[in-house]
Formats: sequence, structure tokens, C-alpha cells
Amino acid sequence: MIDFKKEISDILSKHIQGLQIDEILEMIEIPPNPQMGDFAFPCFKLAKTFRKAPNLIAQEIAESIQAPNLFEKIESVSGYINFFIDKGIFAQSVIEEVLQKKDQFGASDIGKGKKVIVEFSSPNIAKPFHIGHIRSTVIGNSIHKIYRFLGYKTITINHLGDYGTQFGKLIVAYKNWGNRQEVEEDPIPTLLKLYVKFHEEAEKEPQLEEEAREWFKKLEEGNQEAKELWQWFREVSLKEFDRVYRLLNISFDSYAGESFYSDKMPRVLKMLEEKNLLVESKGADIVDLEPYGMPPALIRKSDGSTLYITRDIAAAIYRKEHYDFDKNIYVVASQQNLHFQQWFKIIELMGYEWAKDCVHVPFGLVSLEEGTMSTRKGRVVFLEDVLKKAVEKTKEIIQEKNAGLENIDEVAKQVGIGAVVFQELSNNRIKDYVFSWDKTLNFEGETGPYVQYTHARACSVLRKATVEITNSIDYRLLSGEDAMNLIRLLHQFPDVVLEASKKYEPSMITRHIVDIAQAFNKFYHDTPIIVEDESLQKSRLALVYAVKQTIANGLGLLGIAAPEKM
Ligand code: ARG
Repeated sequence: MIDFKKEISDILSKHIQGLQIDEILEMIEIPPNPQMGDFAFPCFKLAKTFRKAPNLIAQEIAESIQAPNLFEKIESVSGYINFFIDKGIFAQSVIEEVLQKKDQFGASDIGKGKKVIVEFSSPNIAKPFHIGHIRSTVIGNSIHKIYRFLGYKTITINHLGDYGTQFGKLIVAYKNWGNRQEVEEDPIPTLLKLYVKFHEEAEKEPQLEEEAREWFKKLEEGNQEAKELWQWFREVSLKEFDRVYRLLNISFDSYAGESFYSDKMPRVLKMLEEKNLLVESKGADIVDLEPYGMPPALIRKSDGSTLYITRDIAAAIYRKEHYDFDKNIYVVASQQNLHFQQWFKIIELMGYEWAKDCVHVPFGLVSLEEGTMSTRKGRVVFLEDVLKKAVEKTKEIIQEKNAGLENIDEVAKQVGIGAVVFQELSNNRIKDYVFSWDKTLNFEGETGPYVQYTHARACSVLRKATVEITNSIDYRLLSGEDAMNLIRLLHQFPDVVLEASKKYEPSMITRHIVDIAQAFNKFYHDTPIIVEDESLQKSRLALVYAVKQTIANGLGLLGIAAPEKM
């Protein structure tokens, strides 16, 4: 693809002294409205050095440029130099790139040789996998796909919450009120019930808390009974989680959860001690973070047991030593902002210069219409239920509208799950939202099914073609407004992917493919494609192909399938 920005900055650099070519490149904008050109260069910053009004500068430069054939025209308007790319060249450059690169259109190799860890999902064992977990799961999965698309080697880690005092509580509850068969038959709800019962009983008999602490301590010390029970709780939970991951088509390179670091804790404590970072406080060990405006971090309890934060420090050190990452990303709810700030600071204080390569990617809270979710109060929506209902509903709709469709079940799964994931990735991740069944199961408007349907529609047009898309295409035939709008959007796709990676924001891709789908549907509505004139048909088919491919690539980066028929 011709790098139009680069061409323009090369030309401009001949007329602008005092700015580096890269600075010029950075300043080039894509105007919101194509009537102001395909690219624009603002001259306001030049006023000082040129000692002239920006509109005069723009005018002079625009007039003195010897425009090569690449441009239809170059104009100056109120301080901007607007560049209009020759439409035929623009169309050719963009579409040929898609035709050539296919499922790699938008990809790059800027990450070549670099390793990125993406930690996401990380649910707590023996607790329900609920609608709140979908966020980390699908945002993280998408960030991993985006980085991989940009040439990075990615490693995905599910940092399971499979350790900590809650397992002491669970062991006590199970030993007092549990029964093996019930757990086996319906693991998570049964374990949850035991957990809830523990808290009810502990209100009346506080010494239960003490017992729970002791059992966790035993677990940490390798007590056989404690270990066996814990192992079993972990196994039955993982089996349940796995069903959800399979529905979402998500897998991980590593399931090293918190327990994985239990034997790596003494070393961390020793290092913290050696660096004089540990302070004794009522028999426990803390790191004082007051100089950095944060509350102290509790690292080791008075009974010697370690904490969530200790395990995070151990995990980061392990990851650096084991994977030698260039970037270590954590997709974790914004409620844990302080936790991450605290321990990022601690590893920095430990002298690890790679502390700066650790990134917390937070996201907003999901609540229910009845209030915040609460596992203990049983106020929770299971993710598996949401996904299954979405698939069922999709199947009903397909049966109504397109009963003859082959592999209905497969498509219903792709579209139903796609709808839930797409909605999840539609808004800026940091926004809180309220889960609503109606909204999740409403497929009208700017939804996943709409984008998938547009893709299937493009596929169907391509199947009806009576000519082949060959190399000799007259791209000037695509100079109509609707076609050019589409081409501009396709042209931006690689930049959008790059921006999404820098901001850790898959929603930028979601929004962009909605724009492409809308522009395509307008084009499709007003432009017959399978026309008799062969060269006209061929050029339009090439555009349809490019749209289909770009939407599929975008959906792929979101972790959503692109069925060819629906
Ligand atoms: N298990 C935790 C939770 O459900 C999330 C873990 C996040 N990752 C981490 N490295 N701390 O809240």
C-alpha cells in the first residue's frame, strides 16, 4: 500500500524548514470530512517560525507544491493544506493491499522479536464464573490477538485465584457440612453454598475463622489432607471453567495460578528483607509506601502466611526470569488499581528496572439491575447461562429466517456468542455498565450479528459473481462517493489496529468495523454489483472482497467468528 502520509511528509519537508520529517509525519491528520481532503496538514504551529498567519503559510505552501500524479488536487483552507489523493490510485493502493495480504491485511511486524505476556480472565476457584468475568476474559483475549497480529510473540496466562485463606474456609466448611457426592454432581454451586454457610456460621462461632486460618497454613506447609482437598476443589472448578472457555474458543498457554508461586515465596521475602524493604508491624511484615502516597502493603501475616500481593510479586519475578518479557500486561478490574500501583512500586523499589514494562489494563465494573453482584448473597449471573441463552435465541431467529441453513447449530453458536462478546467490546473498557438480559439478547442496531451479517452478505455477493477478480482491474471505476468512503475506512484499518494496541482498547476495532459495515450497506443498497459490464462488475467485486476480508480480520481480532452464511 502506498504510504500516503509518508509521501506527503516527503513533499512538505521540502517546503518547511525547521521541522523534522518525522514531526511533519506526526502532524498529518485525516480530516473528519472527505470534502476537506483525504489528508490535511495544519500550519498553525508554523506561525512562529514563518512569522506569518497560518492561512497565508498554508496558501503559499499549497501553491508552491509541484503536485505529482498521486494527487487530484492540493488546496489550502483556513490554515490547513488539504491533500486529495487521486481516487483511482487510492482505490488501487488499498484494495490491492487487501487482495494480496488477505487475512494478514492490517498486520505488521513491528513486534518482531518482542515478547508480550497477556494475563487475563484469572477467576477464583470454587466460585462461579459469572458475567463479571467476561470482561477480563474477552478484553484480554482480544489484546493478545491484536499484539500477535502486530508481530509480537504473545504468552497468555490465566492467573487462577487458587490459593489463599478462602481455601482454609472451604476446607473447614467441607469437613463440617460437606459431602463428596454433592460436590461431584454440582461442584461450583455446592462449593459456593459451603462458602456462604461458612460465613453464616462464623458470625455465630468466630473460632471458625481461626480454624480456617490454621487450615490454610497447613495447606501452605504441605499437609496431605489439606492438599488433597484443595487439589480436588481446583480440579472440579477448572472443569467447569473449561466449558466456558470452550464456548468462547479461548485457551491459555499457562494456567499457573496463585498456588504455583507458593514455593517461590520464601525467596521473595528474603529479597525484600535484603533490600531493607520489610518493616515489622504487630508481628506482620509490611512494605511502607507512605513516601509514595499509598497505604502500606501487607506482605506476610503474623502467622507467617503470605498474601495475594506477595504472590503477584513472586509471579512477576518468575515471569521475567522464565519468559524474559518485553511487556507484561494484566487485564484486571479497576477495583484493583491500588493493588497494582502498590506492587509495581515494590518491584521498582526492589531494583527491577523492568517494573516499567508491567502494565495494568483496568476495566469498569459490571453490575446487575438489582445492584452490585455478590457471590455470597447469591446475586450473580452465570456467564455460561448468558452464552447459552444467546446461542438458543440465535438459533430461534435463524430457524425463523433461514431454516434451510446448513450447520445451523454451528452458526447459532458463532453468532450468539459473537453477539455477547461484541457487545462487551463495544464500549471503552473503563466504562462501568449494568448487565441487562434484554440488551444482551437484542441483536438490532450496531451489534455483532449486524456486522457478521454484513460479512455474510458480502460473501453471498461474491458467490453470485459472474466474473473473476483478476489482476487487471480498472480502479477508476470506483470513484463514486459511497465506494470512496468505504475505501477510506479500509485504508485506516491498519492504523486503527495499531492504535488499539497502544491504548489496549479493542473497542476501537469494534467501532471501526461497525463503520465499515454501515458504509458497505449504504454502498450495497445504492450500487448494483453483479452488473453486465464486466470491468465494472470486477472493480466492484474487488471492493466487496476487500470489505469482507477487512471485517473478517477485525472480528478475528475481537475473538469473534465470521460465518460465510447466516
Ligand atoms: N483472581 C483475581 C480476582 O478474581 C484476579 C487476579 C488478577 N491477576 C493478578 N495477577 N492479580 O479478583
